[in-house]
Amino acid sequence: MKYVIGVDLGTSAVKILLVNQHGEVTNEISKPYPLFQEKIGYSEQNPNDWVEQTIVGISELITSFDGNPEDIEGLSFSGQMHGLVLLDENKEVLRNAILWNDTRTTKECEEIYERVGRERLLHITKNIALEGFTLPKILWVKNHEPEIFHKAQFFVLPKDYVRYRLTGQLHMEYSDAAGTLLLNVAEKEWSKEICNILGINPEICPPLVGSHDEVGTITAEIAESTGLSTATRVFAGGADNACGAIGSGILEDGKTLASTGTSGVVLSYEANGDKNFEGKVHYFNHAAPDVFYTMGVTLAAGYSLSWFKDTFAKEISFDELLADIDSVPVGSNGLIFTPYIVGERTPHVDANIRGSFIGMDASHERKHFARAVLEGITFSLNESVEIFRENGKNIDTVISIGGGAKNESWLQMQADIFNAKIVKLQSEQGPGMGAAMLAAYGCGWFDSLKECADEFLKEDKVYQPIPENVERYKELFAIYKTVYGETSELNQRLMEYRK
Ligand code: XUL
Repeated sequence: MKYVIGVDLGTSAVKILLVNQHGEVTNEISKPYPLFQEKIGYSEQNPNDWVEQTIVGISELITSFDGNPEDIEGLSFSGQMHGLVLLDENKEVLRNAILWNDTRTTKECEEIYERVGRERLLHITKNIALEGFTLPKILWVKNHEPEIFHKAQFFVLPKDYVRYRLTGQLHMEYSDAAGTLLLNVAEKEWSKEICNILGINPEICPPLVGSHDEVGTITAEIAESTGLSTATRVFAGGADNACGAIGSGILEDGKTLASTGTSGVVLSYEANGDKNFEGKVHYFNHAAPDVFYTMGVTLAAGYSLSWFKDTFAKEISFDELLADIDSVPVGSNGLIFTPYIVGERTPHVDANIRGSFIGMDASHERKHFARAVLEGITFSLNESVEIFRENGKNIDTVISIGGGAKNESWLQMQADIFNAKIVKLQSEQGPGMGAAMLAAYGCGWFDSLKECADEFLKEDKVYQPIPENVERYKELFAIYKTVYGETSELNQRLMEYRK
């Protein structure tokens, strides 16, 4: 039996999967690393922590593996997107990485709009300037740490740096490059125009490759410290959302993913790079060759639920919290929750909006609040589904992964609110599986990623929309959508009371 490794470099930990030719995960390991939040809005990590923990993780994985390491043919990556890693002329790290959830760059986003122009930016990159993306971070270093900026010879994204340390080869691949705001997404080339306008030397942009392209093999030193063979082939990998999509089989038109982690994502396959979503959703290169995906993001999806539990039901488990939500009718007896507890991205790019419970009644119990939280998160995801539909996409089947796929009632709620068939997968490994699939495809085990998905991914259960719930939720969704407008000014006024 042959094997591949999928390395998923997340924000809290690196998760490593050993996967055999049938797509079975035979060994897995997770190794955490710290996050540094020195000031409000700052979020950094030390790239060397990623490398060290990846090496320790692979080495423990190999120790627990009872086969021959020579049978591990390939390795690939999935990575947290947008994080800025700056390297000097010796490819040494110049400062901590500034991560995707770091929001210090509001002024730099304004600078991008002023100098490049919103329409031009949208035309070239297909996306709008968000604090989380990489270009504003490069400008922040240019504006605040010019001595570091002048030493920078290359910038890379988190998983690119780890791959560089494992192989000695420096690249970036399209699906992650798309989240930098420096890539011409449709043409798949760096935008010299944007670099020049903003005073960034285009030479700092590394060579571009495709996600399943082979970039090298494991160095002798890394083979020594991990137990891998120097023959292990390394493939470029993809952005975590693109890999999550591959790991869920989002590989053809009409396939959509709803993923609820800390944040929530609705992601839809897109065959072409020439549509215009006017920046309302992210529009990125897929990690499958020459295709794209669009994506809406709810910043606090699973986080809204864990916040609610930690604040009001700390002593019980999630299962207990959600045990009796089916005894509460659709609409939670007139209670609506908006999940804006850390601001929002889609459809409202608004760092200042905050959440609400609207319609609290003396008869409401904790179970009504719990159901309202799930409904509010799902309504927010449905706003992304609605944008896709308004732009002519057919969304009739949604693969649900993450926290939202762990609860039967929530799965049915997604079917009723999205008015689409919801599919739960048998073994759901998300981005790490997508990375392993890129390696499997790169190794030539399959003729296409789709063929690999057919072998590796199996459906578990399907949830059909219940017509009367669909109608009820349509009315409630219309009310939900008005809450943003009704509360945004109130939240602006409350801002000065926030610590
Ligand atoms: C996507 C985004 C996040 C990160 C998380 O735009 O910012 O989903 O990729 O790792």
